[in-house]
Order: sequence, then structure tokens, then C-alpha cells
Amino acid sequence: MIDGIYNALKPAIFSVDPETVHDASIAMLGSISEQPDLLSVFARLTRHHFDPSHAVNAFGLRFSSPLGVAAGLDKNAVAFPALLALGFSHVEVGTVTPRPQPGNPRPRVFRLVEDQALINSMGFPGRGVSEVVASLAKLKLDSMTVGCNIGPNRSSVEAGNSTEDMVACYRAVASSASYVTINISSPNTANLRDLHQKQALKRLLSAINLERASLIRKPLLLKISPDLDSQQLDNLLDVATEQAVDGIIATNTTTQRPATLRSASRTQAGGLSGIPLSYTSAGIVRAIATKTAGALPIIAVGGIFTGADVVGAIMNGATLVQTYTGLVYSGPGMPRRIAAEIDIELQRHRVRTLEELRGVLIGR
Ligand code: FNR
Repeated sequence: MIDGIYNALKPAIFSVDPETVHDASIAMLGSISEQPDLLSVFARLTRHHFDPSHAVNAFGLRFSSPLGVAAGLDKNAVAFPALLALGFSHVEVGTVTPRPQPGNPRPRVFRLVEDQALINSMGFPGRGVSEVVASLAKLKLDSMTVGCNIGPNRSSVEAGNSTEDMVACYRAVASSASYVTINISSPNTANLRDLHQKQALKRLLSAINLERASLIRKPLLLKISPDLDSQQLDNLLDVATEQAVDGIIATNTTTQRPATLRSASRTQAGGLSGIPLSYTSAGIVRAIATKTAGALPIIAVGGIFTGADVVGAIMNGATLVQTYTGLVYSGPGMPRRIAAEIDIELQRHRVRTLEELRGVLIGR
């Protein structure tokens, strides 16, 4: 029913500027999240049965299904309870920076409807880490799996202080987040992606590990760019393994513009997400799973729209998946629809659990 309502409203929703729709949606989900009575009614309306065959264990946490919300949607951690009530197993809030910042000038989000894609050049707008921590303290229950994605302020990247910002954010969020993701891969903060280089990454991860040794040791994930060649990925995985990172999130948006794009907005600056990213992103997931022989948990992100996409990512070696653009195009019924589609995929592959399918396409 939710799918039908969303599809009927979609022409009207899509006639409004994307960021305005986003802000209104987050405000609505935010006010539901703040009122326990309303939240439980909402959860009852949207609830679906999580089949134990969809459950996933990763980096010491148990997820009721593989599907979570990718970073960037709930930047300030105000709407995650309502997003979880829709049927996502986890929400990654952020990217959170130490100090508040406005991000890039608007408009900075574009729909590429013909391509089922988005281009964004947000540049980490946000209220800063103290507000996010306060919101997590107010809204998060122990039963909720909420990752926190952290990044540096723009001025700190310019001053060469990205590591200090990441450490400060880790310190601030560690006690309230279920896991922490270091975001080195947004294309919308100039030079941030230089942190993929071996020495810079080693310095960053050692500093965070030092902090983790003296503070709370939460699972640490690294979110990477899809725009890496095989050598760059090898180097990154060497450092990630040496520094005992708990998992890789693959991938963030791409600065590439595939020749197949048809929408007028394809020339906008920023990171491309959605269906045109799925091929590249899946290639990176497969490469990581192959190079690490499946030893490093991977969260696959990029063009996940259906249950078949989820199962395909798991067969490629992913442990979990996340979505952002798929939710924009599919609407709030997405997790429930995907749960039903996963059941169909399990039957089609004649297995009982998702775990049995992990890595089968890369020979594991
Ligand atoms: C993002 N993404 C993102 N990622 C991140 O690590 N921190 C962030 O703040 C944001 N912000 C953001 C804003 C917008 C408008 C979009 C569309 C995306 C990237 C996102 O989490 C994801 O990695 C990519 O969008 C690819 O997944 P999808 O969208 O194809 O499912």
C-alpha cells in the first residue's frame, strides 16, 4: 500500500527541488522520532516480519537484515528511529564534522530521473558533532543499530588537519554509536580523497587506533571511493588490514559520468549515485572480497534498488548493504518490498539463509 501511495505522489514530489523534499521528509520523520507514541503507531503501520534467515552478524553486531540506510540521509541524527521503524536494520548517520558548517551553495542535489540517479555536491553541511551526540543521547535506544560517519571540516582539510578532526569526532561519538565510519571518499570536499594514499591513510588510522586503545573500541569502518584503480585499492587494503579496520564500505559516489547517462542534469558537478554507479561499485566490492579472500566485512553501497540487488551484492562477497538513491526513487515501502524479494531470491537459489550465498560468485 505504501508503495502505491508513494508512486501516486511521486510526480508531485519530484516537481519540487530535491533538497527541499529531503528537508521536509527528514523534518517529518524527525518529529515522529521524537514522540514515542507516534513512533510506535508508525512502527506498527510499517512493520514487517524480519525472517531470521535474513539476519547477519558482522563486526560483533547482529543485524536483523542486511539492508541499512547509507550516510548522508540523516546527517544530524534526528530521524533514525523512524527510518529504523520503516524496516531498515541500521542507519548510518552523518557525515558529522567537528564544527557546524553550511556546505556548498544550493542547488546542490539534482535528480537524474531517466537514469534513476542523483548528483550531489553537498559538502558536509551539518550542525556539528556536539549536536549530533546530544541527539543520539536523546533518541537512541540500546536496541537500535546506528553507525556514525565522521569527516573533517572543510577548513581543516585546507589546513592539513583532517586527522585531528577525525580523532576529535571519534572521541565525541564513540560511546553513542554502534560503529564508526571514517569517510575519506566524499568528492565534494576538495582534497579529502587524498586520504586514500598509503602514507596519509596510515597516519590517519594509526591516530584513530591510538584513540581507540585509550577510549572505547567501537568497530571502525572505512568508506571508500569507487574511483580507484587496482593498485590504489591494493595499497588501501594493505593499510586497512595492517591497521585492523573492521570493515570497508564500498562505495561513496563517483565523479565519473558514464556515457550512458541521458538526463539533462548529467553535467552538474558532484558525486553521482544510483543505478549508473552500481556496476563500478559492485566491481570494487568483488575486488575487495577476492583480494581479502572474504576475510574483511564489506558493506556494499551504490545502486541497490531491489532484493535481487541485495542478494547479488552478498553473492559478490558483501556482508551488508546500504541504500540512499534507491530509497528516494522507491519510497518508504522499500525495506518491506526488499524483504519479500529476498525471500523469493532464497527460494530461487534453493538455500535457507542469506549467509549460504555469501561470496558464491567469487568462489568462496
Ligand atoms: C550522499 N552520500 C554520502 N556519503 C557519506 O559518506 N557521507 C555523506 O554525508 C553523504 N552525503 C550524501 C548526500 C546525498 C544527497 C547523496 C545522494 C549521497 C553517499 C551515499 O551514502 C552513498 O554512498 C552513495 O549515494 C551510493 O549509494 P546509492 O545512493 O547509489 O544507494
